[in-house]
Amino acid sequence: MKVRRGNPWTQLPTGPIIAPSLLSVDFARAGEQIDQVIGAGAEVLHVDVMDGHFVPNLSVGPPVVEKLRRCTDAPLDVHLMVADPGFFIERLAEAGADSLNFHIEAGGQTAKTAADRAGELIERIRALGLGAALTLKPATPADALADVIELVDMVLVMTVAPGFGGQEFMANMLPKIETVRGMLSGRQRLQVDGGINPETARLCRSAGADVFVAGNSIFAAEDPAACVQDLRDAVTGAG
Ligand code: DX5
Ligand code: ZN
Repeated sequence: MKVRRGNPWTQLPTGPIIAPSLLSVDFARAGEQIDQVIGAGAEVLHVDVMDGHFVPNLSVGPPVVEKLRRCTDAPLDVHLMVADPGFFIERLAEAGADSLNFHIEAGGQTAKTAADRAGELIERIRALGLGAALTLKPATPADALADVIELVDMVLVMTVAPGFGGQEFMANMLPKIETVRGMLSGRQRLQVDGGINPETARLCRSAGADVFVAGNSIFAAEDPAACVQDLRDAVTGAG
């Protein structure tokens, strides 16, 4: 496979992208399951980094990202659910992340406004040549991004409270997806994450999403490759 590094969002074709979330992978068989989903046409792998503070759960960090990097050439889209995203930027870039996605709600260690802080972090991510994205928790309105939205490759609208896989999709996020889509330019992507299956992916696609993160629906399925295909079919032509 061709090795694709650098900002994945400017290199991938426009149109729907399927991003399996490795939070739900069987880590004892990660290499095999990654090959299955990439072989089935998933373009990106989503990696959830949690610190036990920003969300009430722990997952993986730079050492595991480094191991995943050795398993695959697929772009690694890292979703940072951590209180101080700035602490991890260079470490994750070094480990092999291709895109970093952090929450506008994350405080960090300075007293700056959310927009100033986000702007600085995005600049650091860009300086490393990675894709940069911002995330909204369900309770955070779209206008929290107003001052920085033009700086990012992608906005992630969470469709569950972050922290755990296997939760139910929040249909009341659909209006926010439409609002964020209206704030983005044509080159910017809109990602959804949480409770995504073929049915909810179709709803999100109609509302304007084009990057679909799915953990449980893919990796808890009997046939993860078939689920990737079902997601693709659901979002193709549904825009
Ligand atoms: C949850 C994570 C998700 C998670 C989604 O906080 O951000 O990426 O893996 O899992 P599912 O698709 O099972 O809801
Ligand atoms: Zn995620």
